[in-house]
Order: sequence, then structure tokens, then C-alpha cells
Amino acid sequence: MDLVPDDNSQYKDVDYWDERYKKEQCYDWLGDFSKIKHLLETHIKKDDSILILGCGNSSMSGEMYTAGYRSITNIDYSSVCISTMAARYSDCPGMTWREMDMRQLCFPGTSFDVILEKATLDAIMVDEKSPWDVSPQTACCVHQVLSEISRCLKPGGRFVSVTFAQPFFRKRLYARTEYNWSIKQYSYGKGFQYFVYVMTKGEQLSPEDADLEKKLLEETKSVPGKTTTTPKEDNEDFLLNIRL
Ligand SMILES: C[S@@+](CC[C@H](N)C(=O)[O-])C[C@H]1O[C@@H](n2cnc3c(N)ncnc32)[C@H](O)[C@@H]1O
Repeated sequence: MDLVPDDNSQYKDVDYWDERYKKEQCYDWLGDFSKIKHLLETHIKKDDSILILGCGNSSMSGEMYTAGYRSITNIDYSSVCISTMAARYSDCPGMTWREMDMRQLCFPGTSFDVILEKATLDAIMVDEKSPWDVSPQTACCVHQVLSEISRCLKPGGRFVSVTFAQPFFRKRLYARTEYNWSIKQYSYGKGFQYFVYVMTKGEQLSPEDADLEKKLLEETKSVPGKTTTTPKEDNEDFLLNIRL
């Protein structure tokens, strides 16, 4: 079966993912746990309570569990994905699976030490035409997700974002005082590079990131009708080539 959609906008469509997960057993976007283990182990403690957004059918949660992480809540808006994954890992106490939209997280505030996403925000931005000028709809959607993440993180908690988006595109999204976090960035991958951003709740933006936010706000004010948030991602053809 051809799992590649005809149009990149389908990556935003839950029906596309449901159909895909009826046929595909396991796929790890941007590589599996082994590729980022060294970075995750620096920022995530074994007893942290972890929320994974848009878990898909990736082996990530299972591999983290094997590595000793014991409190992992997985969400995805695909019901097919969640029922398959819940059955696959039914013998792993501490690992839970819930059908949920990341734009509206059904958890109380300050619930998690770590919230992790891998290629999930990429999926909602992949049909944007320019990373410099994201559409108002996508900007709004990304802002909803980031606001929910910030709300659900404990003080000192980390939002870990694994993506193919380079810093000059992705930091424009994350550098906002209202999310109340600092940003650190890392990269991995041989040849083609991927990025890991670690946002720490309760820490201030660096002077450079605060300047970036200020500059973007000024740009927004000078262009009537323009929205603050940012970038768009590369398109689906690009995503298809990022198999490590
Ligand atoms: C590109 S896949 C990444 C899967 C997995 N994280 C990985 O690294 O392989 C994107 C996943 O995000 C899920 N997703 C997309 N939008 C979502 C939303 N609004 N809420 C919850 N899950 C969403 C899709 O169903 C899909 O499983």
C-alpha cells in the first residue's frame, strides 16, 4: 500500500493517520530512540513523568520503557493508533495510551516533568509554503499546542521537541515570553541533520531569544493582519526522505 499521501495537507488529517495505521505496523520518524538516547538521557530522568504527543506507531515509547523510563503517557488523535499501541504494550505497567488532540490536552496544569514530541509539530506544518511566513491558521494551531504544553509542564519541567526544522525557523515559534521557558538546541544525524530543542519551564529566554521575540513582535505590528507565530516546515517530499 502506498502510505504517502497525494497532498501534504493530509498529514494534518486524522483520517489519513487512521488509514495509515490500519496498514503500517511501526515507523520511526526522524530516527529511533538510539539516535537521540544520549540527548534524552541528559534531560530526562528515569523517574520523570513523561507525556509523548502524537506517539504514532513509533518504537520510541517502548524503547524508553526498556531503557528504564517507567511513567510514560502516550497520546495521539488517531484511535487506530491508540488501540493498536495499547494492545502492543499491555504488559508494561506505567505506560498509558490515550486518544487525545494535542491542541486540547485533558490533563490538569503542572501534570508532567517532561513533554516530548517527535515530528508531530512537523506534521501539522508540513504543507506550509514558506517557513518564514506561516499561515494564520497554522500559527494559531501551533500556539494552541505550545500553550497547552506550557500549561501542563511542572515548574522546571522540560518540553523536548525533535524535528527537522532548523533553529532559524523553529526558534521563532518557541521564543515567546508567555510560554515561560528557556530554549536550548542540539543536533544529531550524520549527513542530514535533525534538531532537538529543550525548553525548560520557569527559566527566562536568553537575551538572543528575547531579542528574536521582540523583533518578530515589531514585524507583526508593522504589517497589519500578520500573525505573530512563525514558520512553516518543509513539504512532505522532504519528510519522506528523512528515514535514518
Ligand atoms: C509524523 S507522525 C510522528 C509519529 C511519532 N511521533 C514518531 O516519531 O514516529 C505524527 C503523529 O502525530 C499525530 N497527530 C497529528 N496531529 C495531532 C493532533 N492534533 N493531536 C494528536 N496527535 C496528532 C498523528 O496521528 C501521527 O501519529
